[in-house]
Amino acid sequence: MNVMLRQKLDPDRLPRHVAIIMDGNGRWAQRQGYSRIRGHQEGAESVRTVVRLCREIGVGYLTLYAFSEENWQRPPLEVQALMQLLGRYLQQEIAEMVENQIAFQAIGDLTKLPARIQRQLVETTAATAGGRALTLTLALSYGGRSEIVQAARLLAEKVRQGQLAPEAIDRELFAQHLYTHDLPDPDLLIRTSGEYRISNFLLWQLAYTELYFTDTLWPDFREEEFLEAILDYQRRDRRFGLTQDQIEAQL
Ligand code: IPE
Ligand code: IPE
Ligand code: MG
Repeated sequence: MNVMLRQKLDPDRLPRHVAIIMDGNGRWAQRQGYSRIRGHQEGAESVRTVVRLCREIGVGYLTLYAFSEENWQRPPLEVQALMQLLGRYLQQEIAEMVENQIAFQAIGDLTKLPARIQRQLVETTAATAGGRALTLTLALSYGGRSEIVQAARLLAEKVRQGQLAPEAIDRELFAQHLYTHDLPDPDLLIRTSGEYRISNFLLWQLAYTELYFTDTLWPDFREEEFLEAILDYQRRDRRFGLTQDQIEAQL
């Protein structure tokens, strides 16, 4: 446990919602001469660490990009291994999530996932529904543009049915039709592995999110790296388009 780093955290300025693009498993494995799959296994350990830490320090929402819509185009064996790993993760973690008051949910086009995984997702979501300490959201078969398109379709259908006037569509209503309708927007987005891109993640929701990029590969991203990211976030001034004087007057 990194007592020193933990002590530096300002409990009043914690991000309420942290989102992470967990990248670099394949490169981590290749550098050690392992198969890419081994990198994903090691990455699952980083997931466990970060989930536990969020609950302990009091981050309310954690959203993890685990599998993108584009990732379906990877070699079938890798996709299969990722699905297996996901199934195992859910099976192994469900009891601990219940015990630790973690509410689990998945977002994305879940209908594309194997039926067995879909069942596990439903079960895990139901079993953990009462969790109040942390909401853990896994983005699976997720694409930000697709999420926006499906929201537009839902709204268009309501208009067609005569339940909604086009003028009634505002940002609030639009956001209510996204997968993330029950989540606040992320305060902090972390991307590992030295890539400086969003890769179709939470395109709508990241409008005013603080971005943090690190060269660390996801399997090496553990407690110290996570705490460093939170500390970096706490050193920033968020202005939301206002002047610093205005922000200070609000405090
Ligand atoms: C992230 O690691 C995991 C997924 C995208 C599923 P990668 O598998 O993308 O690892 P790199 O980027 O090839 O190193
Ligand atoms: C983004 O990583 C998706 C996930 C972490 C699940 P990728 O490795 O798929 O992204 P690109 O291809 O580098 O943009
Ligand atoms: Mg990658």
